[in-house]
Amino acid sequence: MTAPGPNPSATALSTPAGSPFFNYRDGTLFAESVSLAELGRALGTPLYVYSRAALAAAWASYQEAIGTQRVLVCYGMKANSNLAVLKEFARLGSGFDIVSGGELARVLAAGADPAKVVFSGVGKQAWEMRAALEAGVKCFNVESVPELKRLSQVACEMSKTAAVSLRVNPDVDAQTHPYISTGLKENKFGIAIEDAPAAYQLASSLPGISVVGVDCHIGSQITEVAPYLDALDKLLKLIDQLTKLGIKLKHLDLGGGLGIRYDDETPLAPKVLLDKVFTQLKARGYAGLELVLEPGRSLVGNAGVLLTTVQYLKHADARNFAIVDAAMNDLMRPALYEAWHGVLPVTPRNDSSALYDVVGPVCESADWLARARQLALHEGDILAIESAGAYGFVMAGNYNSRPRPAEVMVDGDKYYVVRQREMLADLIRGESFLP
Ligand code: LLP
Repeated sequence: MTAPGPNPSATALSTPAGSPFFNYRDGTLFAESVSLAELGRALGTPLYVYSRAALAAAWASYQEAIGTQRVLVCYGMKANSNLAVLKEFARLGSGFDIVSGGELARVLAAGADPAKVVFSGVGKQAWEMRAALEAGVKCFNVESVPELKRLSQVACEMSKTAAVSLRVNPDVDAQTHPYISTGLKENKFGIAIEDAPAAYQLASSLPGISVVGVDCHIGSQITEVAPYLDALDKLLKLIDQLTKLGIKLKHLDLGGGLGIRYDDETPLAPKVLLDKVFTQLKARGYAGLELVLEPGRSLVGNAGVLLTTVQYLKHADARNFAIVDAAMNDLMRPALYEAWHGVLPVTPRNDSSALYDVVGPVCESADWLARARQLALHEGDILAIESAGAYGFVMAGNYNSRPRPAEVMVDGDKYYVVRQREMLADLIRGESFLP
């Protein structure tokens, strides 16, 4: 237990993630022009709060980097699949990267254009393939030869042609957390790049399949440009090989993975990456190839916070605990990846502070949201967990029979509940007794 000291959060009033859309005004944290103290009081906590302007700004950072080049951004919607978020990106012109029939249903419910949808994932089932063919998606990112054969069969049964891009595994180290690194040989994703030419030849010979592209996704929360350029180099060498085999591609999909700032990371700006990618494509004679990107986290991560209320302060021998009303079931990243998220008091106090572990009420030692943070807290204070817009609500569950939080979108000085808080009745819906 540390001795009480001055409270840095009350004086600095800065946000580690540095989002310009979540700022202190007169001692209270705001999302755009909405007070988070008022929002928390009005709607209760835990509560996910997103900023519409932050979504638009993240989208604009890609558009500015793209300029007049031929690029389709397919938002990696697994990061945040709330309908209002999807609608916003669809309105801005985004395509979508989906990984399940459920995500396809959401994209269609949001009124998005299926012709801008790419379908990724290692385990696509026949019903999901049928739904995607029915909807008319842009392409399937096929991850194995057995999947290719099943897709050919399903397409033939429907008398349709499936546009296919093979997801190759370029065996590059994305230099990120092992759980979110996907482009190494030992990962389950994609077709090993050395096996790709044979897989492409098979794909070109199968009925119901039309080869259109090549795809890779090497990992997530990447902050270096080098792994992308390594992957691009390997993909372009593969395309050279395919050209010699008479196989012509229309697009190259570099996946998602651009990191954001949680603490003191320097994120990789889309412009820094894309300038290098365009130069490379031009130098290698592939300026005519359409580029597809699948960013998730970098479009939504710092557009959201999770509000939570301090229930109890517990001063144990070894630690101080702030027991809050959000838990690992609401925001799983700390428990799963030991991820670091900024914690901001919504209304900072000038009291003495202490080092706190911010923990939830779930019966697991892994149920923590932040560790060893210098905070001045009282019961009833509201905290904002930063950078919760990506892989937050989408990974939430009902462990310990906890209803999932509501989600709110702020737009200027207005806010909209874009998902109701779950009710206790929702928890037992669909369950029944034995006869
Ligand atoms: N495309 C594919 C094929 C993917 O697997 C992913 C993410 C993306 C695009 C989007 O990647 P992003 O731009 O968001 O990095 N739950 C983890 C992240 C898992 C990422 C899975 N794949 C986390 O909370 O850090």
